[in-house]
Amino acid sequence: MFSTDTSTAPAPAAAPATPAFRFDGLHKTFRSKDGGDVIALHDVNFHVSRGEFVTVVGPSGCGKSTLLRILAGLDRASRGHVELGGREHTGPSRDIGVVFQAPVLLPWRNILDNVLVPAQIQGRDPKAARERAMHYLQMVGLAGFETKYPNELSGGMQQRVGIARALVNDPMLLLMDEPFGALDAMTRENMNVELLKLRERTGATIMLVTHSIPEAVFLGDRVIVMSPRPGRVTQVIDVDLPARTLDVINTERFGAYVSGIRANLNASGGLD
Ligand SMILES: Nc1ncnc2c1ncn2[C@@H]1O[C@H](COP(=O)(O)OP(=O)(O)OP(=O)(O)O)[C@@H](O)[C@H]1O
Ligand SMILES: [Mg+2]
Repeated sequence: MFSTDTSTAPAPAAAPATPAFRFDGLHKTFRSKDGGDVIALHDVNFHVSRGEFVTVVGPSGCGKSTLLRILAGLDRASRGHVELGGREHTGPSRDIGVVFQAPVLLPWRNILDNVLVPAQIQGRDPKAARERAMHYLQMVGLAGFETKYPNELSGGMQQRVGIARALVNDPMLLLMDEPFGALDAMTRENMNVELLKLRERTGATIMLVTHSIPEAVFLGDRVIVMSPRPGRVTQVIDVDLPARTLDVINTERFGAYVSGIRANLNASGGLD
């Protein structure tokens, strides 16, 4: 007799996730000007699948920006491996967009032309690039500011130009280093929601560094917690929330994730 009970049927094998990037035994030591060594990263291991959104929290100076710069191909590890899409990663890639901790805009170019820089470097079709640039400027709330110059914008507005610039080529991997730190609370919340929508629309893999534990929980499929310098990964938390809308922030479940991470950072001496 035909049965609809599938509880005893073997579960279908989950399709293996496509790797986006992976750190394997990563170490980074800087030689400082006074001749001493600064160990920034110590034996960092984790991998991220394509389409995942990972957030990174950790105390100041624990190596978050260093990790991101290595992944962006802007710095090299002292030891260990970085793989991008299953291959050894050796330098900058056109599939990566980076939002730096400070926006670093070109003062002689207007806002639109600043956003277009990565598209021009990569020789993208100018008309399509311009359309994307206008679209992302609107998304970050800067429609109407295209012909202004960086010194005519506030710090938070300049940071939003940096975000639009990182998005202009629709990158498959978006690396964001405290992108919303300079924004007021309301704009920051809006940008969080917009970023989740963008991720849904593009399927991009995102790694975002933040000092805000609630922001890390709200955005991340996984939160990577780092120890004070030398930075190590002390905890990786899978975040399972019923929805990623702002109301979720007031739920007990959300609060439990935040206090768990805070306790971990406290235990490693990462919080004052
Ligand atoms: N180019 C460099 N030369 C020497 N030391 C460096 C260099 N870049 C970073 N460091 C050191 O490496 C450590 C990690 O720096 P990094 O900028 O990665 O920290 P971070 O976690 O991003 O901090 P923050 O949260 O304050 O941005 C720090 O002690 C820093 O002084
Ligand atoms: Mg940093």
